[in-house]
Amino acid sequence: MCGIIGYVGTERGDDALEVLLGGLSQLEYRGYDSAGVALADGGIDVHKREGELSALKSALPMDRFGGETLGIGHTRWSTHGPPSDVNSHPHTDTDGQVAVVHNGIIENYQQLRDDLTDAGIEFQSDTDTEVVPHLIAQYRDEGLDHEAAFRAAIDRLEGSYAIAAVFDGREAVYAVRNESPLVLGVADNGYYLGSDVPAFIEYTDQVIYLEDGQFARLTPTELVVTDENGDKIDTSIKTINWDPEDAGKSGYDHYMLKEINEQPTALRECFRGRLDELTGRVKLSELGNLEPNGIVTFVACGTSYHAAMVGTRLLQERGIPAQAFLASEFNLDTVPINPESVVVGVTQSGETADTMRALREANSVGATTVAVTNVVGSSAARETDEVLYIRAGPEISVAATKTFASQQAALTMLATVLSGQRSRELVQELRAVPDQIQSVLDTSSAREIAETYHGSDAYFFIGRGYHYPVALEGALKMKEITYTHAEGFAAGELKHGPLALVSADTPVFAIVTGDGRLAEKTIGNIKEVEARGTPVVAVTDGQSNVERYADHVLEVPASSSVTSSIVANVQLQLVAYWTANQLGRSIDKPRNLAKSVTVE
Ligand code: G6P
Repeated sequence: MCGIIGYVGTERGDDALEVLLGGLSQLEYRGYDSAGVALADGGIDVHKREGELSALKSALPMDRFGGETLGIGHTRWSTHGPPSDVNSHPHTDTDGQVAVVHNGIIENYQQLRDDLTDAGIEFQSDTDTEVVPHLIAQYRDEGLDHEAAFRAAIDRLEGSYAIAAVFDGREAVYAVRNESPLVLGVADNGYYLGSDVPAFIEYTDQVIYLEDGQFARLTPTELVVTDENGDKIDTSIKTINWDPEDAGKSGYDHYMLKEINEQPTALRECFRGRLDELTGRVKLSELGNLEPNGIVTFVACGTSYHAAMVGTRLLQERGIPAQAFLASEFNLDTVPINPESVVVGVTQSGETADTMRALREANSVGATTVAVTNVVGSSAARETDEVLYIRAGPEISVAATKTFASQQAALTMLATVLSGQRSRELVQELRAVPDQIQSVLDTSSAREIAETYHGSDAYFFIGRGYHYPVALEGALKMKEITYTHAEGFAAGELKHGPLALVSADTPVFAIVTGDGRLAEKTIGNIKEVEARGTPVVAVTDGQSNVERYADHVLEVPASSSVTSSIVANVQLQLVAYWTANQLGRSIDKPRNLAKSVTVE
């Protein structure tokens, strides 16, 4: 998904280019296919390239730079028009008096483009964004000053956008947001703007989250935020407590491996101050008095949807009716939501467009909305009635890992609170999870398994109960980063179709813990697979006799099924990681995927 960086000031020794390129590399995790910068120092100097940031860097005439105090940059994830140099941002008007970067979609761009074309303007790109600089230039030509022209152009747009613009001969960056993230950074001698805090966290931890409909003007000496009418708004500056080091790789080859290894710490942080072992109570002090009066509805996408499935089962087991929807399939016409309803959006980024739309629809009928998210100040956090932070810290790799574990843990606590349950046993089990994950990280044989099976035709994952969403998640990780066909199934479904696909070249990963009814049944399903000469890898706590039917075993410590599914998932993350590593894939930035998907 597109990323924006902007900077004005002398904080960085007049090296705007360094700030822009550094910011863009911190935004790479969002996924992109091209990148560009506009430096404004007298005239506007635009450079943009299809491909990775390195392509842009090698195209920059470095000897021409130095002393710039102002600029904007962009990583593009194509929506209108294929990846190419001309479709990359920044876009300019015909005379090059203004340069614009944009994240989001301008829904009425075709009409605007037709009007501008009728007025004699020749478009260079296929993008929706290019209408913006031409509109601004039109208003400038009509005599409006820079800011008024910017506002007048924005007023013509429908859709979602975070936009930043710089003008020829003007020491200011102008910005606006509507349904796309934009954060401002405040330092002693300069101001930053970014799609996300990591874009400038290296330089300042003082941030202002722009709200929808708000405009910002950043100059070397002043930051002014205004509303739609141009009236000044008093904003509050928040301090971000992420260590800049957290956003680096800390010696790991990939962010994904670093983030897998951070799970014990992330979970301890998620539990901090929330678990009382003496009384067995869970305290989520930030949540108001939530008393679901009917069915609780979860909405989420991707990995977060798998966590939402866990949340659904947790509530159902505690006698609270619950259902989970893929956010893109949630629709008020078919899902009866009313002011009594509780709708929970599970979204690590807090910005996913599908999830935000579903939450906004739930808000529109007066339902109580809850965000379970990782990002303080994100759209989901701001637009819902209640927020439960998962506290996983920044996750850079596109494939979600530690945020899934923290979502599972946070939803376990949420279900406990909603049901009024007190359980010393559950609290102790949750507390044990970080150490259990650490022991998996220290002893896992996932790497050897990846070495054995990395050339397979496909991978299948099966599980029952809480292990079913983990089977889906195991398959999602595998397909995302290895580009190999992988599917997860409820173990009982194997015989209803997927069994036709298994062969000696399609290993089946089965999650079996405990020695109860579900374990027994899954072992039955494993026998069906084994009988067909298919290799079986069991993720197990050794309580059943599944080892007898498995070719390999990935061990997890014994615990209850919900916590063992959190730990079992770590083994599957490691298998996916090492398989992708064997195959030489682009692990942190898989092809075609984006970390934060802000279009529906
Ligand atoms: C994208 C990411 C997935 C993520 C999904 C939902 O598709 O690539 O890793 O699970 O969005 O993201 P969210 O931020 O809402 O959890």
